[in-house]
Amino acid sequence: MINRSRNGFHTAPMSKQEIIKWLKEEDPRRLEELWRWADIVREASVGPEIHLRAIIEISNYCRRACGYCGINCHNNEVDRYRLSEEQILNSVRQVADDGFRTVVLQSGEDYGFSVQMIDNLIRKIKSQTGLAVTLSLGEREKSELRQWKLAGADRYLLKIETSNPQLFNRIHPMQSSSWSNRLEMLHFLMDLGFEIGSGIMVGIPGQTYEDLADDLLTFWELDIDMLGIGPFIPHPLTALGQNNYSAFKDQTPNTEITAHKVNALARVFCPDSNIPTTTALATLNKTNGRILGLQRGANVIMPNMTPIEYRPLYQIYPGRVCLDESGKQLIKAIHQTVKSLGRVISDDIGMSRNYLKRTGKKIAI
Ligand code: 5AD
Repeated sequence: MINRSRNGFHTAPMSKQEIIKWLKEEDPRRLEELWRWADIVREASVGPEIHLRAIIEISNYCRRACGYCGINCHNNEVDRYRLSEEQILNSVRQVADDGFRTVVLQSGEDYGFSVQMIDNLIRKIKSQTGLAVTLSLGEREKSELRQWKLAGADRYLLKIETSNPQLFNRIHPMQSSSWSNRLEMLHFLMDLGFEIGSGIMVGIPGQTYEDLADDLLTFWELDIDMLGIGPFIPHPLTALGQNNYSAFKDQTPNTEITAHKVNALARVFCPDSNIPTTTALATLNKTNGRILGLQRGANVIMPNMTPIEYRPLYQIYPGRVCLDESGKQLIKAIHQTVKSLGRVISDDIGMSRNYLKRTGKKIAI
């Protein structure tokens, strides 16, 4: 047991050894207990509401060379695009009309968007729609992050991908980025007053069970508000796309079941966080990957609402689902899913309860 560094007294819900035992568990009856545990914790902490976030992928330009990601800067086969302000605002107005209360602006690390362009965008979204704005734009300068917070941005997503700095360096070759930069940026975002989100991939070549246990302990220590966890899906045009898994010792599998185990444990470790059922989970199991995520700890769905003609160009991994569904079809399907689970779609902006507790703000719905 370790002591929570930020808030003093609490101890982690379980030890590293216990986490590893769950991650290696194969008995279906024991796993049912884990799913039930996550579901009970989810219901008791964040309740039955499911929050919808509309993701708009505003650019696939990226200056990074991440070894797992299909839009990395070395992939010359990608047709690059950057949406104009007008295109983005049209999409945002559309998702506001569709009933979303949060928009996530996501892109590769694209300095073609200047600090001022994003600032203008945030202000216009706020004044025209009142939506909560989540940014997922990679690592940016502190001054830029500060400016965007002042412009009205609410949340920032920055995945650490793994809590093991050596593994981080291996999958991010030739980058100025380092693991400690990302951690520092997360703390900085937190101090600026953002709701902060992070996440990892499960089954990265070279990732061990102990790494995954450390990931959970790290998020618990960080007191994270949002947590996205998905399986690693090899992309053939990347450095990690051809990896020979058997070369690694104690390798974690990039399977659906392992990703579900990590998500369920994440709910136990971070009861008040917003946890999405990720698109990568839905990609591995097109029939009910998304539903299973919601039954095993998740309380957020993040549909891809990028203009349909651009969606295939944001191919971070192959086989991504929801490439050809219109917004209306997608929303209808989601409403059916949520109803079948006996849950409800939230009609507020869905701030993270963890954020409200962490910052001492009143829990207002
Ligand atoms: N498999 C699974 N997830 C991926 N991501 C990027 N590439 C892959 C992949 N091959 C996820 C990472 C990244 C986000 C943009 O998408 O977590 O942070």
